[in-house]
Amino acid sequence: MIRLLRVKEVVAAKAIGSEVIVAGWVRSMRDAKELSFIELNDGSMMGNLQIVVDKNNFSYNDTLREVSTGASIKVKGKVTASVGSGQEIEILASFISVLGSAPNDYPLQKKRHSLEFLREISHLRSRTNTIGAVMRVRNVVSFAIHQFFQERDFVYIHTPIITSSDAEGAGDMFQVTTIDMDKKGAGEVDYSRDFFGCKTHLTVSGQLAVESYCIGLGQVYTFGPTFRAENSNTVRHAAEFWMIEPEMAFYQLDELMAISQDFLRYLINAVLEKCPQELEFFNERIKPGLIENLRTVATSNFSHMTYTQAIDVLKNAIANHGKVFEHPVEWGIDLKSEHERYLTEEHIRGPVMVTDYPKEIKSFYMKLNDDGKTVRGMDILVPGIGEIIGGSEREDNYDLLKERMIAVGLDVEEYGWYLDLRKYGSVPHSGFGLGLERFVMWVTGMSNIRDVIPFPRTVKHCQF
Ligand code: 4AD
Repeated sequence: MIRLLRVKEVVAAKAIGSEVIVAGWVRSMRDAKELSFIELNDGSMMGNLQIVVDKNNFSYNDTLREVSTGASIKVKGKVTASVGSGQEIEILASFISVLGSAPNDYPLQKKRHSLEFLREISHLRSRTNTIGAVMRVRNVVSFAIHQFFQERDFVYIHTPIITSSDAEGAGDMFQVTTIDMDKKGAGEVDYSRDFFGCKTHLTVSGQLAVESYCIGLGQVYTFGPTFRAENSNTVRHAAEFWMIEPEMAFYQLDELMAISQDFLRYLINAVLEKCPQELEFFNERIKPGLIENLRTVATSNFSHMTYTQAIDVLKNAIANHGKVFEHPVEWGIDLKSEHERYLTEEHIRGPVMVTDYPKEIKSFYMKLNDDGKTVRGMDILVPGIGEIIGGSEREDNYDLLKERMIAVGLDVEEYGWYLDLRKYGSVPHSGFGLGLERFVMWVTGMSNIRDVIPFPRTVKHCQF
């Protein structure tokens, strides 16, 4: 029996003379006098497999009428050396069956469609070169994430999606409830009537939960969907995104910085190794110089500066290089996108780790430095995207943590369990969060987060 093969397998094997069966979707069909040429794509790789049909073979005619762009077909044929340019082999068809025809209102024709247009047909855009390549890269990155941590003896913890924590200091939350809010009537909602008997939300981060497993298992990570109801309608914010959050007991800021860059370089190397065709495509069509940049990042140490040094660099840019920023620069500000861009694209020209931020602009759980003003937090900023990783050494001192919680207005009773982690056998520990989508944007050169998520959820947009 002849086995059904992926197009990728057929192209790699180059087994001239062998009989194969392939199946996929027709990208285009071209008629010559004696022959027809079908470009077949099955999503397994960049590019198409050319199917050559000899029209003199009378039995094809009825079938061929139904073969049009977008139709799905199954082809049996012989692998032959191609005389045409652009491919080494093609299939000389001996049999074709149409699995599903596509009427001529099929929205994906043989031309370049804009990414904006493709977002309107997110259920069909997987059939395009760009989105297909993005999803294969996203897949390779997701697998490499697990490999990195598994090779280093980390334990994968599935942290909850629904949480009763009121705030983790990470962003606005989506409420989860079984009470019909439209019919709740006047006054306060009685959450004791709700499914969980309390107010619940979709998680904004698995960090606090994963910390509680870190202090028992030592090295852990969580990797799952997170949700933020931030009203940020930008090209790098999504309401639903995937985050990778490792947490390491006994690690301090230096060790955190070291593992973070090892991790990013490991992921970049995985993409360079496993997605060469996809990267060629992005390099040519989306971002010239991408591959060279990735190779440089994968082999060099990231730059490091403190927040205070970063502010000095920005002030110097204004004073001595005529740089104009929209937002004012002074110690204490949260770095805005334009500041991050200047640091990564004009000053360092590469990724930079910024540490020791003012405590006021960072989360309550970050460890306070001896100066009492800054925290041992670390963000990794990259050109074109800005912040890709946020992390810190955690406050491991019970009293200091409690003080910080009160200062930022958290309900200490409710976080009793989190304080317990510092009450019983507290240890220094550190962790970070990497946004999967921002990483995929970085390695593909895609400039809008909506194009690296299968079904993006953003402000005023939730299709399907
Ligand atoms: O800096 P953030 O908010 O950090 C945390 O959530 C910590 N609990 C992480 C930790 O220490 N375990 O988010 C971490 C990363 C950001 O650097 C960014 O890459 C991504 O998550 N991110 C988003 N990605 C897409 N859309 C959004 N709305 C995002 N918000 C954060």
